[in-house]
Amino acid sequence: MEQALLSLAYLSSSILFIMSLRGLSSQETSRRGNTYGIVGMIVAVAALATSTGVGGYAVLLPALSVGGFIGYAMASRVAMTAMPEMVALLHSFVGAAAVLVGYASYLDSEMHDGGVVFLVEVFIDVFIGALTFTGSVVAFLKLRGQVSGRPLLLPGRHAFNLALVGGAVAMGVIYASAPGSEGLVELAIMTGLAGVLGWHLVMAIGGADMPVVVSMLNSYSGWTASAAGFMLGNDLLIITGALVGSSGAILSYIMCKAMNRSIWSVIFGGFGAAPKKAATGVAPEGEVAEIEASETAALLEHAKSVVIVPGYGMAVARAQHAVHDLTTLLRDRGTKVRFGIHPVAGRLPGHMNVLLAEADVPYDIVLEMDEINDDLPTTDVVLVIGANDIVNPGALTDESSPIYGMPVLEVWKAARVIVFKRSRGTGYAGVDNPLFYYANAALLLGDARASMDKLVAALKGQVVT
Ligand code: TAP
Repeated sequence: MEQALLSLAYLSSSILFIMSLRGLSSQETSRRGNTYGIVGMIVAVAALATSTGVGGYAVLLPALSVGGFIGYAMASRVAMTAMPEMVALLHSFVGAAAVLVGYASYLDSEMHDGGVVFLVEVFIDVFIGALTFTGSVVAFLKLRGQVSGRPLLLPGRHAFNLALVGGAVAMGVIYASAPGSEGLVELAIMTGLAGVLGWHLVMAIGGADMPVVVSMLNSYSGWTASAAGFMLGNDLLIITGALVGSSGAILSYIMCKAMNRSIWSVIFGGFGAAPKKAATGVAPEGEVAEIEASETAALLEHAKSVVIVPGYGMAVARAQHAVHDLTTLLRDRGTKVRFGIHPVAGRLPGHMNVLLAEADVPYDIVLEMDEINDDLPTTDVVLVIGANDIVNPGALTDESSPIYGMPVLEVWKAARVIVFKRSRGTGYAGVDNPLFYYANAALLLGDARASMDKLVAALKGQVVT
Protein backbone atom coordinates (compact mmCIF):
# COMPACT_ATOMS: atom_id res chain seq x y z
CA MET A 1 0.00 0.00 0.00
CA GLU A 2 1.31 3.42 -0.92
CA GLN A 3 2.27 5.93 1.74
CA ALA A 4 -0.65 8.27 0.98
CA LEU A 5 -3.15 5.43 1.20
CA LEU A 6 -1.55 4.17 4.37
CA SER A 7 -1.84 7.64 5.95
CA LEU A 8 -5.49 7.79 4.91
CA ALA A 9 -6.15 4.37 6.48
CA TYR A 10 -4.40 5.45 9.69
CA LEU A 11 -6.41 8.65 9.80
CA SER A 12 -9.65 6.69 9.33
CA SER A 13 -8.67 4.29 12.11
CA SER A 14 -7.85 7.16 14.45
CA ILE A 15 -11.24 8.77 13.79
CA LEU A 16 -12.98 5.41 14.32
CA PHE A 17 -11.14 4.96 17.66
CA ILE A 18 -12.23 8.42 18.81
CA MET A 19 -15.83 7.66 17.76
CA SER A 20 -15.53 4.35 19.59
CA LEU A 21 -14.55 6.06 22.85
CA ARG A 22 -17.39 8.52 22.39
CA GLY A 23 -19.85 5.65 21.83
CA LEU A 24 -18.62 3.73 24.85
CA SER A 25 -19.43 6.65 27.12
CA SER A 26 -23.12 5.75 27.40
CA GLN A 27 -25.05 2.50 27.57
CA GLU A 28 -27.34 3.36 24.68
CA THR A 29 -24.46 3.85 22.25
CA SER A 30 -21.91 1.40 23.63
CA ARG A 31 -22.57 -1.40 21.11
CA ARG A 32 -22.06 1.05 18.25
CA GLY A 33 -18.90 2.32 19.95
CA ASN A 34 -17.59 -1.22 20.19
CA THR A 35 -18.25 -1.80 16.48
CA TYR A 36 -16.35 1.39 15.56
CA GLY A 37 -13.40 0.13 17.59
CA ILE A 38 -13.42 -3.27 15.89
CA VAL A 39 -13.64 -1.74 12.40
CA GLY A 40 -10.87 0.76 13.25
CA MET A 41 -8.60 -2.05 14.39
CA ILE A 42 -9.31 -4.19 11.29
CA VAL A 43 -8.53 -1.21 9.02
CA ALA A 44 -5.30 -0.51 10.93
CA VAL A 45 -4.01 -4.07 10.90
CA ALA A 46 -4.97 -4.65 7.25
CA ALA A 47 -3.39 -1.35 6.16
CA LEU A 48 -0.16 -2.05 7.97
CA ALA A 49 0.04 -5.66 6.81
CA THR A 50 -0.36 -4.67 3.15
CA SER A 51 1.85 -1.58 3.27
CA THR A 52 5.05 -1.40 1.31
CA GLY A 53 8.06 -2.65 3.17
CA VAL A 54 6.14 -5.22 5.17
CA GLY A 55 7.05 -8.71 4.11
CA GLY A 56 7.58 -12.00 5.86
CA TYR A 57 4.00 -13.11 5.37
CA ALA A 58 5.00 -16.68 6.14
CA VAL A 59 5.47 -15.52 9.74
CA LEU A 60 2.99 -12.62 9.90
CA LEU A 61 -0.14 -14.45 8.74
CA PRO A 62 0.20 -17.49 11.04
CA ALA A 63 1.04 -15.14 13.94
CA LEU A 64 -2.03 -12.98 13.26
CA SER A 65 -4.28 -16.05 12.91
CA VAL A 66 -3.01 -17.81 16.05
CA GLY A 67 -3.11 -14.58 18.09
CA GLY A 68 -6.57 -13.72 16.78
CA PHE A 69 -7.86 -17.20 17.55
CA ILE A 70 -6.46 -17.22 21.11
CA GLY A 71 -7.89 -13.73 21.75
CA TYR A 72 -11.30 -14.78 20.42
CA ALA A 73 -11.34 -17.98 22.48
CA MET A 74 -10.30 -16.15 25.67
CA ALA A 75 -12.83 -13.34 25.26
CA SER A 76 -15.75 -15.60 24.41
CA ARG A 77 -15.13 -17.90 27.37
CA VAL A 78 -14.29 -15.40 30.08
CA ALA A 79 -16.86 -15.06 32.86
CA MET A 80 -17.98 -11.49 33.51
CA THR A 81 -16.53 -11.73 37.03
CA ALA A 82 -13.11 -12.69 35.63
CA MET A 83 -12.98 -9.79 33.17
CA PRO A 84 -10.58 -7.62 35.24
CA GLU A 85 -8.11 -10.52 35.37
CA MET A 86 -8.23 -10.89 31.61
CA VAL A 87 -7.78 -7.16 31.09
CA ALA A 88 -4.75 -7.23 33.42
CA LEU A 89 -3.30 -10.16 31.47
CA LEU A 90 -3.81 -8.37 28.15
CA HIS A 91 -2.02 -5.30 29.52
CA SER A 92 0.94 -7.53 30.36
CA PHE A 93 1.07 -8.56 26.67
CA VAL A 94 1.25 -4.89 25.64
CA GLY A 95 4.11 -4.36 28.10
CA ALA A 96 5.99 -7.45 26.89
CA ALA A 97 5.48 -6.47 23.23
CA ALA A 98 6.81 -2.97 23.92
CA VAL A 99 9.96 -4.37 25.53
CA LEU A 100 10.56 -6.76 22.62
CA VAL A 101 9.97 -4.03 20.01
CA GLY A 102 12.32 -1.75 21.95
CA TYR A 103 15.12 -4.33 21.92
CA ALA A 104 14.51 -5.21 18.27
CA SER A 105 14.72 -1.54 17.27
CA TYR A 106 17.87 -1.00 19.33
CA LEU A 107 19.59 -3.97 17.71
CA ASP A 108 18.40 -3.13 14.18
CA SER A 109 21.19 -1.23 12.49
CA GLU A 110 18.78 0.35 10.00
CA MET A 111 16.59 1.88 12.68
CA HIS A 112 19.36 2.68 15.14
CA ASP A 113 20.58 6.07 13.95
CA GLY A 114 22.62 6.65 17.09
CA GLY A 115 20.69 9.85 17.77
CA VAL A 116 19.82 10.75 21.33
CA VAL A 117 16.10 11.09 20.48
CA PHE A 118 15.97 7.50 19.25
CA LEU A 119 17.83 6.24 22.33
CA VAL A 120 15.48 8.11 24.67
CA GLU A 121 12.45 6.69 22.80
CA VAL A 122 13.81 3.16 23.23
CA PHE A 123 14.57 3.83 26.88
CA ILE A 124 11.06 5.13 27.67
CA ASP A 125 9.40 2.37 25.66
CA VAL A 126 11.35 -0.39 27.40
CA PHE A 127 11.10 1.19 30.87
CA ILE A 128 7.29 1.65 30.83
CA GLY A 129 6.86 -1.66 28.97
CA ALA A 130 8.78 -3.67 31.60
CA LEU A 131 6.99 -1.88 34.45
CA THR A 132 3.60 -2.53 32.81
CA PHE A 133 4.48 -6.18 32.17
CA THR A 134 5.41 -7.17 35.72
CA GLY A 135 2.79 -4.87 37.30
CA SER A 136 0.06 -6.41 35.15
CA VAL A 137 1.20 -9.96 35.90
CA VAL A 138 1.02 -9.20 39.66
CA ALA A 139 -2.41 -7.57 39.21
CA PHE A 140 -3.56 -10.67 37.29
CA LEU A 141 -2.30 -13.03 40.01
CA LYS A 142 -3.81 -10.89 42.78
CA LEU A 143 -7.21 -10.70 41.10
CA ARG A 144 -7.08 -14.47 40.53
CA GLY A 145 -6.30 -14.99 44.19
CA GLN A 146 -2.96 -16.70 43.45
CA VAL A 147 -1.09 -13.88 45.21
CA SER A 148 -2.51 -12.43 48.42
CA GLY A 149 -4.67 -9.37 47.86
CA ARG A 150 -3.19 -7.73 50.98
CA PRO A 151 -0.77 -4.86 50.30
CA LEU A 152 2.90 -5.71 50.75
CA LEU A 153 4.17 -2.73 52.73
CA LEU A 154 7.95 -3.16 53.00
CA PRO A 155 9.75 -0.80 55.38
CA GLY A 156 11.39 1.99 53.37
CA ARG A 157 9.40 1.03 50.30
CA HIS A 158 9.33 4.54 48.87
CA ALA A 159 13.11 4.83 49.20
CA PHE A 160 13.36 1.43 47.47
CA ASN A 161 11.16 2.68 44.59
CA LEU A 162 13.26 5.85 44.29
CA ALA A 163 16.46 3.77 44.26
CA LEU A 164 15.05 1.62 41.45
CA VAL A 165 14.14 4.72 39.39
CA GLY A 166 17.55 6.26 40.15
CA GLY A 167 19.32 3.05 39.15
CA ALA A 168 17.34 2.84 35.90
CA VAL A 169 18.16 6.47 35.01
CA ALA A 170 21.85 5.91 35.77
CA MET A 171 21.86 2.83 33.54
CA GLY A 172 20.05 4.91 30.91
CA VAL A 173 22.82 7.53 30.91
CA ILE A 174 25.54 4.90 30.39
CA TYR A 175 23.46 3.13 27.74
CA ALA A 176 22.85 6.36 25.84
CA SER A 177 26.54 7.23 25.75
CA ALA A 178 27.60 3.81 24.45
CA PRO A 179 28.30 3.68 20.69
CA GLY A 180 26.06 1.59 18.41
CA SER A 181 24.30 -1.21 20.28
CA GLU A 182 26.99 -1.55 22.92
CA GLY A 183 24.69 -0.33 25.70
CA LEU A 184 22.77 -3.59 25.60
CA VAL A 185 23.88 -4.75 29.06
CA GLU A 186 22.81 -1.44 30.64
CA LEU A 187 19.52 -1.62 28.76
CA ALA A 188 19.00 -5.14 30.14
CA ILE A 189 19.80 -4.04 33.72
CA MET A 190 17.42 -1.10 33.32
CA THR A 191 14.72 -3.51 32.09
CA GLY A 192 15.24 -5.65 35.19
CA LEU A 193 15.02 -2.61 37.50
CA ALA A 194 11.81 -1.41 35.80
CA GLY A 195 10.38 -4.93 36.12
CA VAL A 196 11.10 -5.02 39.86
CA LEU A 197 9.56 -1.54 40.19
CA GLY A 198 6.34 -2.67 38.44
CA TRP A 199 6.17 -5.76 40.64
CA HIS A 200 6.75 -3.77 43.84
CA LEU A 201 4.36 -0.92 42.97
CA VAL A 202 1.45 -3.30 42.45
CA MET A 203 2.36 -5.62 45.35
CA ALA A 204 2.04 -2.57 47.64
CA ILE A 205 -1.58 -2.05 46.63
CA GLY A 206 -4.40 -4.12 47.95
CA GLY A 207 -8.05 -4.53 48.65
CA ALA A 208 -10.31 -1.84 47.40
CA ASP A 209 -7.63 -0.08 45.31
CA MET A 210 -7.15 -2.96 42.85
CA PRO A 211 -9.66 -1.72 40.24
CA VAL A 212 -7.80 1.58 40.05
CA VAL A 213 -4.54 -0.28 39.55
CA VAL A 214 -5.94 -2.20 36.57
CA SER A 215 -7.11 1.06 35.07
CA MET A 216 -3.72 2.71 35.76
CA LEU A 217 -1.94 -0.22 34.07
CA ASN A 218 -4.30 0.28 31.14
CA SER A 219 -3.07 3.85 30.99
CA TYR A 220 0.60 2.77 31.23
CA SER A 221 0.08 0.27 28.39
CA GLY A 222 -1.25 3.16 26.28
CA TRP A 223 1.77 5.36 26.98
CA THR A 224 4.14 2.52 26.21
CA ALA A 225 2.37 1.97 22.87
CA SER A 226 2.70 5.69 22.19
CA ALA A 227 6.43 5.56 22.97
CA ALA A 228 6.73 2.60 20.57
CA GLY A 229 4.91 4.71 17.97
CA PHE A 230 7.56 7.46 18.23
CA MET A 231 10.31 4.87 18.03
CA LEU A 232 8.86 3.18 14.94
CA GLY A 233 7.68 6.43 13.36
CA ASN A 234 4.10 5.07 13.36
CA ASP A 235 1.51 7.85 13.74
CA LEU A 236 -1.40 5.51 14.40
CA LEU A 237 0.41 3.86 17.31
CA ILE A 238 1.16 7.31 18.77
CA ILE A 239 -2.48 8.41 18.51
CA THR A 240 -3.98 5.11 19.73
CA GLY A 241 -1.49 4.91 22.58
CA ALA A 242 -2.32 8.46 23.64
CA LEU A 243 -6.07 7.69 23.53
CA VAL A 244 -5.62 4.58 25.70
CA GLY A 245 -3.13 6.35 27.98
CA SER A 246 -5.29 9.38 28.62
CA SER A 247 -8.63 7.56 28.86
CA GLY A 248 -7.10 5.07 31.32
CA ALA A 249 -5.70 7.95 33.39
CA ILE A 250 -9.07 9.77 33.37
CA LEU A 251 -10.92 6.58 34.37
CA SER A 252 -8.43 6.01 37.20
CA TYR A 253 -8.97 9.58 38.40
CA ILE A 254 -12.78 9.18 38.32
CA MET A 255 -12.54 5.88 40.24
CA CYS A 256 -10.17 7.39 42.80
CA LYS A 257 -12.62 10.24 43.35
CA ALA A 258 -15.47 7.72 43.77
CA MET A 259 -13.47 5.80 46.37
CA ASN A 260 -11.99 8.89 48.02
CA ARG A 261 -8.47 7.66 47.27
CA SER A 262 -5.58 9.84 46.20
CA ILE A 263 -4.52 9.00 42.67
CA TRP A 264 -0.90 9.64 43.64
CA SER A 265 -1.10 6.99 46.34
CA VAL A 266 -2.12 4.49 43.69
CA ILE A 267 0.54 5.59 41.20
CA PHE A 268 3.25 5.46 43.86
CA GLY A 269 2.14 2.11 45.16
CA GLY A 270 0.50 2.06 48.54
CA PHE A 271 1.36 5.61 49.57
CA GLY A 272 -0.80 6.05 52.67
CA ALA A 273 -2.17 2.52 52.29
CA ALA A 274 -1.99 1.94 56.02
CA PRO A 275 -5.11 2.97 57.96
CA LYS A 276 -4.86 6.37 59.61
CA LYS A 277 -5.56 4.84 63.01
CA ALA A 278 -4.74 1.40 64.35
CA ALA A 279 -7.65 -0.97 63.90
CA THR A 280 -9.62 -1.22 67.12
CA GLY A 281 -10.53 -4.85 66.50
CA VAL A 282 -13.93 -4.19 68.05
CA ALA A 283 -16.62 -6.13 66.24
CA PRO A 284 -19.98 -4.40 65.81
CA GLU A 285 -22.32 -5.03 68.71
CA GLY A 286 -25.93 -6.17 68.77
CA GLU A 287 -28.11 -8.74 67.07
CA VAL A 288 -28.24 -9.53 63.37
CA ALA A 289 -31.85 -10.02 62.27
CA GLU A 290 -32.77 -12.50 59.56
CA ILE A 291 -35.82 -12.44 57.33
CA GLU A 292 -37.62 -14.91 55.03
CA ALA A 293 -38.57 -14.31 51.39
CA SER A 294 -42.28 -14.41 52.30
CA GLU A 295 -41.86 -11.69 54.95
CA THR A 296 -39.87 -9.59 52.47
CA ALA A 297 -42.68 -10.00 49.95
CA ALA A 298 -45.14 -8.70 52.55
CA LEU A 299 -42.92 -5.66 53.15
CA LEU A 300 -42.71 -4.97 49.42
CA GLU A 301 -46.47 -5.28 49.05
CA HIS A 302 -46.91 -2.21 51.22
CA ALA A 303 -43.91 -0.25 49.96
CA LYS A 304 -44.49 2.78 47.75
CA SER A 305 -40.86 3.33 46.96
CA VAL A 306 -38.17 0.65 46.58
CA VAL A 307 -34.48 1.04 45.78
CA ILE A 308 -32.41 -1.94 44.63
CA VAL A 309 -28.65 -1.84 45.26
CA PRO A 310 -26.82 -4.58 43.35
CA GLY A 311 -23.26 -5.69 44.10
CA TYR A 312 -20.75 -8.37 43.28
CA GLY A 313 -23.00 -11.14 44.70
CA MET A 314 -25.65 -10.40 42.07
CA ALA A 315 -23.02 -11.09 39.39
CA VAL A 316 -21.87 -14.31 41.10
CA ALA A 317 -25.44 -15.58 41.49
CA ARG A 318 -26.41 -14.36 37.99
CA ALA A 319 -29.52 -12.98 39.62
CA GLN A 320 -30.02 -10.02 37.26
CA HIS A 321 -32.87 -11.65 35.29
CA ALA A 322 -34.74 -12.50 38.51
CA VAL A 323 -34.11 -8.91 39.66
CA HIS A 324 -35.62 -7.71 36.40
CA ASP A 325 -38.71 -9.92 36.98
CA LEU A 326 -39.12 -8.46 40.47
CA THR A 327 -38.77 -4.93 39.09
CA THR A 328 -41.46 -5.54 36.46
CA LEU A 329 -43.78 -7.10 39.02
CA LEU A 330 -43.43 -4.19 41.44
CA ARG A 331 -43.73 -1.52 38.75
CA ASP A 332 -46.87 -3.19 37.40
CA ARG A 333 -48.31 -2.84 40.89
CA GLY A 334 -47.53 0.87 40.87
CA THR A 335 -44.48 0.76 43.16
CA LYS A 336 -41.71 3.24 42.39
CA VAL A 337 -38.59 1.12 41.76
CA ARG A 338 -35.13 2.51 41.16
CA PHE A 339 -31.60 1.15 41.19
CA GLY A 340 -28.67 2.71 43.04
CA ILE A 341 -25.31 1.98 41.41
CA HIS A 342 -22.05 2.56 43.25
CA PRO A 343 -19.14 3.48 40.92
CA VAL A 344 -17.08 0.50 42.12
CA ALA A 345 -19.85 -2.03 42.69
CA GLY A 346 -18.84 -5.48 41.49
CA ARG A 347 -15.38 -6.07 40.12
CA LEU A 348 -15.02 -3.81 37.10
CA PRO A 349 -16.18 -0.34 36.07
CA GLY A 350 -19.77 -0.45 34.88
CA HIS A 351 -20.15 -4.10 35.99
CA MET A 352 -23.67 -3.65 37.37
CA ASN A 353 -24.82 -1.49 34.45
CA VAL A 354 -23.77 -4.19 31.99
CA LEU A 355 -25.63 -6.91 33.91
CA LEU A 356 -28.80 -4.83 34.30
CA ALA A 357 -28.71 -3.88 30.61
CA GLU A 358 -28.31 -7.58 29.74
CA ALA A 359 -31.49 -8.27 31.75
CA ASP A 360 -33.34 -5.41 29.97
CA VAL A 361 -33.79 -3.23 33.05
CA PRO A 362 -34.79 0.22 31.68
CA TYR A 363 -31.86 2.68 31.75
CA ASP A 364 -33.93 5.52 33.15
CA ILE A 365 -34.48 3.83 36.53
CA VAL A 366 -30.80 2.97 36.96
CA LEU A 367 -29.30 5.87 38.92
CA GLU A 368 -25.81 6.62 40.12
CA MET A 369 -24.93 6.82 43.81
CA ASP A 370 -24.95 10.62 43.89
CA GLU A 371 -28.35 10.74 42.21
CA ILE A 372 -30.05 8.35 44.65
CA ASN A 373 -28.36 8.96 48.03
CA ASP A 374 -30.53 11.99 48.89
CA ASP A 375 -33.72 9.98 48.21
CA LEU A 376 -32.84 7.08 50.50
CA PRO A 377 -34.28 8.65 53.71
CA THR A 378 -37.70 8.75 52.02
CA THR A 379 -37.45 5.21 50.62
CA ASP A 380 -39.63 2.47 52.17
CA VAL A 381 -37.51 -0.59 51.35
CA VAL A 382 -33.96 -0.99 50.05
CA LEU A 383 -33.00 -4.39 48.66
CA VAL A 384 -29.23 -4.92 48.75
CA ILE A 385 -28.47 -7.76 46.33
CA GLY A 386 -25.06 -9.29 47.07
CA ALA A 387 -23.42 -5.96 47.91
CA ASN A 388 -21.36 -5.35 51.02
CA ASP A 389 -18.49 -2.82 50.98
CA ILE A 390 -20.48 -0.28 48.97
CA VAL A 391 -23.19 -0.10 51.68
CA ASN A 392 -20.87 -0.21 54.69
CA PRO A 393 -21.59 2.70 57.09
CA GLY A 394 -18.15 2.14 58.63
CA ALA A 395 -16.65 3.71 55.48
CA LEU A 396 -18.01 7.04 56.74
CA THR A 397 -17.38 6.65 60.47
CA ASP A 398 -14.63 4.14 61.26
CA GLU A 399 -11.20 5.69 60.72
CA SER A 400 -9.52 2.33 61.25
CA SER A 401 -11.38 0.77 58.33
CA PRO A 402 -9.40 0.16 55.11
CA ILE A 403 -12.34 1.61 53.20
CA TYR A 404 -12.62 4.71 55.42
CA GLY A 405 -13.36 7.74 53.27
CA MET A 406 -15.01 5.83 50.41
CA PRO A 407 -18.44 7.33 49.70
CA VAL A 408 -21.13 4.66 50.06
CA LEU A 409 -24.83 4.23 49.36
CA GLU A 410 -26.43 5.28 52.65
CA VAL A 411 -29.05 2.53 52.60
CA TRP A 412 -29.49 2.49 56.39
CA LYS A 413 -31.36 5.79 56.08
CA ALA A 414 -34.31 4.02 54.42
CA ALA A 415 -37.19 2.66 56.54
CA ARG A 416 -36.15 -1.00 55.96
CA VAL A 417 -33.05 -2.60 54.42
CA ILE A 418 -33.00 -6.24 53.32
CA VAL A 419 -29.58 -7.66 52.45
CA PHE A 420 -29.46 -10.70 50.16
CA LYS A 421 -26.31 -12.75 50.86
CA ARG A 422 -25.27 -16.26 51.79
CA SER A 423 -23.64 -15.67 55.17
CA ARG A 424 -22.52 -12.96 57.56
CA GLY A 425 -19.16 -12.96 55.75
CA THR A 426 -17.29 -9.90 54.59
CA GLY A 427 -16.96 -8.47 51.08
CA TYR A 428 -13.94 -7.67 48.90
CA ALA A 429 -12.18 -5.40 51.40
CA GLY A 430 -12.51 -8.02 54.15
CA VAL A 431 -14.14 -5.69 56.68
CA ASP A 432 -17.11 -6.31 58.97
CA ASN A 433 -20.27 -4.47 58.02
CA PRO A 434 -22.08 -2.71 60.92
CA LEU A 435 -25.12 -2.31 58.64
CA PHE A 436 -26.16 -5.91 59.43
CA TYR A 437 -26.58 -4.93 63.11
CA TYR A 438 -28.84 -1.95 62.44
CA ALA A 439 -32.36 -2.27 63.85
CA ASN A 440 -33.98 -1.55 60.47
CA ALA A 441 -31.80 -4.08 58.60
CA ALA A 442 -32.26 -7.83 58.09
CA LEU A 443 -30.39 -10.52 56.16
CA LEU A 444 -32.20 -12.70 53.65
CA LEU A 445 -29.74 -15.58 53.68
CA GLY A 446 -29.07 -17.77 50.65
CA ASP A 447 -27.89 -17.53 47.07
CA ALA A 448 -29.19 -14.23 45.67
CA ARG A 449 -30.75 -15.90 42.63
CA ALA A 450 -32.58 -18.53 44.70
CA SER A 451 -33.80 -15.90 47.21
CA MET A 452 -34.93 -13.60 44.44
CA ASP A 453 -36.84 -16.44 42.73
CA LYS A 454 -38.57 -17.23 46.05
CA LEU A 455 -39.42 -13.57 46.54
CA VAL A 456 -40.88 -13.25 43.05
CA ALA A 457 -42.91 -16.45 43.57
CA ALA A 458 -44.18 -15.19 46.93
CA LEU A 459 -45.13 -11.84 45.45
CA LYS A 460 -46.91 -13.48 42.56
CA GLY A 461 -48.83 -15.63 45.02
CA GLN A 462 -49.88 -12.58 46.99
CA VAL A 463 -50.84 -10.71 43.85
CA VAL A 464 -53.15 -13.55 42.82
CA THR A 465 -54.85 -13.84 46.20
P1 TAP B 1 -18.39 -6.99 47.97
O1 TAP B 1 -18.08 -6.00 49.01
O2 TAP B 1 -17.29 -7.85 47.45
O3 TAP B 1 -19.55 -7.92 48.58
C1 TAP B 1 -20.15 -8.90 47.80
C2 TAP B 1 -21.04 -9.73 48.71
O4 TAP B 1 -21.78 -10.58 47.86
C3 TAP B 1 -20.27 -10.59 49.67
O5 TAP B 1 -20.33 -10.08 50.98
C4 TAP B 1 -20.93 -11.97 49.55
O6 TAP B 1 -21.43 -12.36 50.82
C5 TAP B 1 -22.09 -11.73 48.59
N1 TAP B 1 -22.25 -12.84 47.66
C6 TAP B 1 -21.30 -13.48 46.94
N2 TAP B 1 -21.85 -14.45 46.21
C7 TAP B 1 -23.19 -14.42 46.46
C8 TAP B 1 -24.29 -15.18 46.00
N3 TAP B 1 -24.15 -16.18 45.12
N4 TAP B 1 -25.52 -14.86 46.47
C9 TAP B 1 -25.67 -13.87 47.37
N5 TAP B 1 -24.66 -13.12 47.83
C10 TAP B 1 -23.43 -13.39 47.37
O7 TAP B 1 -19.08 -6.34 46.70
P2 TAP B 1 -19.59 -4.85 46.45
O8 TAP B 1 -20.42 -4.38 47.59
O9 TAP B 1 -20.14 -4.87 45.07
O10 TAP B 1 -18.29 -3.94 46.49
C11 TAP B 1 -17.31 -4.05 45.50
C12 TAP B 1 -15.95 -4.21 46.16
O11 TAP B 1 -15.06 -4.71 45.18
C13 TAP B 1 -15.38 -2.90 46.65
O12 TAP B 1 -14.58 -3.11 47.78
C14 TAP B 1 -14.55 -2.45 45.45
O13 TAP B 1 -13.53 -1.54 45.78
C15 TAP B 1 -13.98 -3.78 45.02
N6 TAP B 1 -13.61 -3.86 43.61
C16 TAP B 1 -14.33 -3.16 42.70
C17 TAP B 1 -13.98 -3.22 41.39
C18 TAP B 1 -14.78 -2.37 40.43
S1 TAP B 1 -14.06 -1.45 39.35
N7 TAP B 1 -16.07 -2.37 40.50
C19 TAP B 1 -12.92 -4.05 40.95
C20 TAP B 1 -12.21 -4.81 41.92
C21 TAP B 1 -12.58 -4.68 43.26
P3 TAP B 1 -21.60 -13.92 51.16
O14 TAP B 1 -20.30 -14.56 50.90
O15 TAP B 1 -22.03 -13.92 52.58
O16 TAP B 1 -22.67 -14.42 50.25
